[in-house]
Amino acid sequence: MSLTLPQTLRWSADGRAVELLDQTLLPSQETYVRLETSAQVVEAIRTLRVRGAPAIGVAAAMGVALDAARHTRASRDEFMSVLDAACRELRSARPTAVNLAWAVDRMRRLAEDLGDADAGTVACKLYGEATAILEKDQAMCRRMGEHGAALLPDHEPVRVLTICNAGALATAGIGTALAPVYHAVGQGRSVSVHACETRPLLQGSRITAWELERAGVPCTVVIDSAAPLLLRDGAVDIVFTGADRIAANGDVANKVGTYSLAVHATQAGVPFYVVAPSSTLDAATATGADIEIEHRHPDEVRRGFGQQTAPADVAVYAPAFDVTPASLITGIVTDRGVLRPPYRIES
Ligand code: MRU
Repeated sequence: MSLTLPQTLRWSADGRAVELLDQTLLPSQETYVRLETSAQVVEAIRTLRVRGAPAIGVAAAMGVALDAARHTRASRDEFMSVLDAACRELRSARPTAVNLAWAVDRMRRLAEDLGDADAGTVACKLYGEATAILEKDQAMCRRMGEHGAALLPDHEPVRVLTICNAGALATAGIGTALAPVYHAVGQGRSVSVHACETRPLLQGSRITAWELERAGVPCTVVIDSAAPLLLRDGAVDIVFTGADRIAANGDVANKVGTYSLAVHATQAGVPFYVVAPSSTLDAATATGADIEIEHRHPDEVRRGFGQQTAPADVAVYAPAFDVTPASLITGIVTDRGVLRPPYRIES
């Protein structure tokens, strides 16, 4: 069975731009925006037009290639300083997902390794590298799908719980946490998904539910605070979440609310799996305590989607991510296989 999944981002037909599905407009509008500079890619990442750890890494690599292609007549020094500025801005567009730094550093290293090559040659290689990063992400998603689907119980329908969007739209391929679902459905299995709404920006209800419905996978949106009840009441067979960064000891930063799911899954005896590509593994960060957690603007809570929902100046606590300790994680599904505790992450 073949599934219809949305394409998160792609090169434009003329190769001069990145076209990406503007996720801020979902689920009511399916609109691709055309980005021609790294600065436009930075804006798209900051405003969550593109979001999800692997997808922002791929977008950033493409952003570096865009600026390189616009400066092919520059001297080597000028070219490298353009590239450095682009890499700096892209790398710092959001702090938590390591995929961003992973992709940008890979692009920067390639340019460096090409030594005295002229700007045109380097730009051409960088375009190829960004395409390779995109294709590698697609391949990693497929492999996570295979490894994760093997963990599903035999009975049907299999009932999966997830949070945020860690599906196709968080990657260049079929997703991370939803890859096992898509793989299993593609093999003819019956799978239903409970998608946490994911306050305050509603990536679960706006994006995951939209993506699953479009693919024909049964989906129920769950208000975040009700997810523990589903776990307690035996309505969930397995939890799959994505990750934004996995520290050397197996601690996982992911969308805020993931920690709470892990606590309640553990208490209910429901297996809790994190699904993430190798580009999310960060052996250089010792533990979750060392991961920088992004905080979102208070107005996303006070006036979410333009509607006043709290006093205009009230203080807001809005971390975008939380850290789930390794001790609560049944296994980490990567493109290389399933890691089990005790975790010793190698990048
Ligand atoms: O703030 P977002 O929407 O970028 O957060 C995304 C998540 O937390 C995802 O679950 C995570 O990036 C893993 S996605 C493959």
